[in-house]
Amino acid sequence: MYLHPEFETLTRSELEVLQTERLRATIKQCMNSPFYRKRFEESHIRPEEIKNLDDLRKIPFTTKQDLRDNYPFGLAAVPMEEVVRLHSSSGTTGTPTVILHTQRDLDEWANAVARCLYMVGLRPGDIFQNSSGYGMFTGGLGFQYGAERLGMLTVPAAAGNTKRQIKFITDFGTTALHAIPSYAGRLYEVMVEMGIDPRRDTNLHTLIIGAEPHSEEQRKRIENMLGVKAYNSFGMSEMCGPGVAFECKEQNGLHIWEDYYIVEIVDPDTLEPVPEGEVGELVLTTINREAMPLLRYRTRDLTRILPGTCPCGRHHIRLDRMKGRSDDMMILKGVNIFPIQIETILMQFAELGNNYLITLTNEEANDLMTVEVELKEFSDDYPHLQALTKEIVRQLKDEILITPIVRLVPKGTLPQQEGKAVRVKDLRKTLI
Ligand code: COA
Ligand code: AMP
Ligand code: ZN
Repeated sequence: MYLHPEFETLTRSELEVLQTERLRATIKQCMNSPFYRKRFEESHIRPEEIKNLDDLRKIPFTTKQDLRDNYPFGLAAVPMEEVVRLHSSSGTTGTPTVILHTQRDLDEWANAVARCLYMVGLRPGDIFQNSSGYGMFTGGLGFQYGAERLGMLTVPAAAGNTKRQIKFITDFGTTALHAIPSYAGRLYEVMVEMGIDPRRDTNLHTLIIGAEPHSEEQRKRIENMLGVKAYNSFGMSEMCGPGVAFECKEQNGLHIWEDYYIVEIVDPDTLEPVPEGEVGELVLTTINREAMPLLRYRTRDLTRILPGTCPCGRHHIRLDRMKGRSDDMMILKGVNIFPIQIETILMQFAELGNNYLITLTNEEANDLMTVEVELKEFSDDYPHLQALTKEIVRQLKDEILITPIVRLVPKGTLPQQEGKAVRVKDLRKTLI
């Protein structure tokens, strides 16, 4: 039932003892990082002052901007010769973020993912297929190493090419699949087109779904369509990737591994803790990481801690499914995108004005982004406009990793934005 009973079955007070011990070690480790040394000095905090979990609140928050400002290696807390892996966010316009790992960090990450997969009943003998993008997307290597650590035959199918993905499922007898919820819908559609009945023609019994917000209703539909149990998986690159919080078989909240993370939920405006059980921003402190520990990292994800205990016997707290974000990040096809990335590309074209609108829709279980942008001056030079559109699409795709539809429209066509521009219209519906 438990892959790591020595950690998974700790009582609340045992967890607190472990967290306190690991927090102290983490603070010590942070003093090797130029960023945290300066942070502590500027905030007049001595590392020895942080003795218990309550003391954590004396430390300022760490933000994505801190990661950007100290790009690439300013948060390294070990000599760079000990770093064996780097993951970086997409984007060339703003400064990207970088996360560093030692070999021990990678081992612990694989252990965390393996623990999650074991918790939902996967075992050696299962065949695990991963439809995440690989490379910098942490859902790729993260699940790969975790599934291998558990001892499953692991198929690194990667994103896209849905027909081939389905051929792998039928030919190799895939029993468990990791897919983002919207892509699960696409897989089903193509199975139907191919005359494949997932219940009759595949061995699939478990789906791991995550990387984007989804509802209970969506989960049920995925389960019914594919004849599987679907478990919610939450993670983020700054905390390694997948393996941060995961549903157990009860499917009632996501256990967050408190031997890896200290959890706080704060009001995103006041940054004060919210009353118990209320929704706020998730703030995480890593306590099992060497290369790049993060103290009080503002994830920008909105959620709450579920009350009560879980019948599975784990006392690690459960997070409710994510309710949204406290910033303007969008997630499309499992890719994180900030509107500023799009604006920066558009503003590099002399022919374009300042007014643009991003509309998100979904058709046939595929997210679509349409970018309408006003031309500075009237033009009926259609060959030029066509070439211009193509070039904008190319540059946007390089930046945001998905292919948008771009429409050039005459000046004055789009609604004028008053005050803080509302540049994004999210019209996506629950399709599956
Ligand atoms: N996962 C897997 N495949 C996906 C996908 C996703 N999240 N989103 C789309 N696809 C598939 C499409 O169905 C299509 O294949 P098909 O035509 O054979 O069905 C193919 O990828 C290309 O999709 P398209 O929408 O035409 O391309 P795009 O240029 O807009 O997007 C992707 C490119 C899909 C490669 C990019 O969105 C991506 O890499 N997504 C994966 C992100 C990811 O793994 N995130 C981490 C999860 S932890
Ligand atoms: P990345 O760093 O690319 O892995 O993206 C991490 C972000 O994806 C998180 O901060 C969340 O906003 C989102 N995310 C990941 N998993 C989930 C999930 N299960 N439900 C909702 N959002 C998620
Ligand atoms: Zn549980």
